[in-house]
Amino acid sequence: MADKKAWLSFSDREDKIELAVHSGTVGPDAVDIAGLYRDAGVFTYDPGFLSTASCSSAITYIDGDKGILRYRGYPIEQLAAESTFLEVSYLLMYGELPTREQLDDYVCKITHHTMINESLLRFFEGFHYDAHPMAMMVGVVGSLSGFYHDSIDMNDPQHRELAAHRLVAKMPTIAAAAYKHNVGERVMYPRNDLSYVGNFLQMMFGRPCEAYCVDPLAERALDLLFILHADHEQNASTSSVRLVGSSGANPFACIAAGVASLWGPAHGGANEAVLRMLEEIGDASQIDKYLDKAKDKDDPFRLMGFGHRVYKNYDPRARIIREVCLQVLEKLADSNNPLFELARRLEERALHDEYFLERGLYPNVDFYSGIIYRALGIPESMFTVMFAIARTAGWVSHWMEMWDDPKHRIGRPRQLYVGADRRDYVPLEERRD
Ligand code: SDX
Repeated sequence: MADKKAWLSFSDREDKIELAVHSGTVGPDAVDIAGLYRDAGVFTYDPGFLSTASCSSAITYIDGDKGILRYRGYPIEQLAAESTFLEVSYLLMYGELPTREQLDDYVCKITHHTMINESLLRFFEGFHYDAHPMAMMVGVVGSLSGFYHDSIDMNDPQHRELAAHRLVAKMPTIAAAAYKHNVGERVMYPRNDLSYVGNFLQMMFGRPCEAYCVDPLAERALDLLFILHADHEQNASTSSVRLVGSSGANPFACIAAGVASLWGPAHGGANEAVLRMLEEIGDASQIDKYLDKAKDKDDPFRLMGFGHRVYKNYDPRARIIREVCLQVLEKLADSNNPLFELARRLEERALHDEYFLERGLYPNVDFYSGIIYRALGIPESMFTVMFAIARTAGWVSHWMEMWDDPKHRIGRPRQLYVGADRRDYVPLEERRD
């Protein structure tokens, strides 16, 4: 794979280390440093992994400068316009768009895995009524490994595929059950006559006392949001899934780790934080004050939904979501939605501000998504849960890709040690402040 070379020399040593340079299909080359410690006795140093490729992958490609996002080579704009979330989850998992027969078979399999064991439903009773639904997701998803022993032999590709299907299928059921626990309502069982998103909506908002009609607007908007959130290369939660999976941990534990990582406000928790931020800003007259807070290094406040480790241009997902937001609000006769207007004004002001422009801080996937979720009646506490449902497609795809690589091995980073040098134990009576 490597025909290019790089050389590393040191100011305090004579030797020069030759390193292979790998080229991918598209995007930056990667300098292979795997043998560096063996050959030169040094580590590389990259806290936060700004310049580190942790693996090779064929799933998603991002170009942060050009604002490009492709799943298996297909531009996100085309998938958003033409595809469905389940078709995209198939594409991410298997690498190719399904034929009609393959898609029908896949949808049937996912549909028939949406139920969860009755004992799992009792788990929710153990949570305080106002437990954050992400806390319930982490706990219940992790506990799936206690139920599905027939799909946790990591060395069996059929077990891996079955576990992946179960996870994609059951996340909406678990998510809706967490919501029902919060609102004190009886859970709604899955319905196999509905679409993946239609079923989720009925499990969320359906009630035993009346028939539930799926709103096509909400169904299409959520399906589109799920497509846009399905995968994003080696982000924090996907990297968590890969690292946990590299030890051979079962897939349910791996996805629970992904859910936990996604919960952070710097990652998937940002969509919930954006709504709280907009409500704190209140109205356009306060925008300058909050932009100044965001720029003040002594102030922990950040403009939530802005900035991205990779995109130093407009996040292509944010551009699409803003349009969907406008369409949803217009169809709900709410085109003057104050939160959306405030978000638009905030974006406009930030994108004319040197601080944000020179740092390449643009709206990201989380900036507008929460406004849509709220317009569809989904509470803020469920916003990151929505992200987790969608990202499960990416998480299981990366987990499968890692296991399909016969050369994969446990991930075990090293460190630059800056602690105390060797010193002898001091008996308690001899210690002084
Ligand atoms: C997601 O990785 C992914 O792909 C993630 C994701 C996915 O699909 O999986 O895209 C989903 O997580 C989107 C990001 C959601 N998070 C937020 O919206 C939270 C707000 N954003 C930031 O916290 C921040 O921008 C990050 C975490 C997204 C990125 O952080 P980085 O890459 O570590 O950048 P940084 O913190 O080093 O910031 C660089 C500079 C700093 O200023 P200087 O020290 O250079 O003067 O930009 C500033 C930061 O202070 N900065 C911000 C800012 N984000 C960065 N200043 C104000 N407001 C912000 N939002």
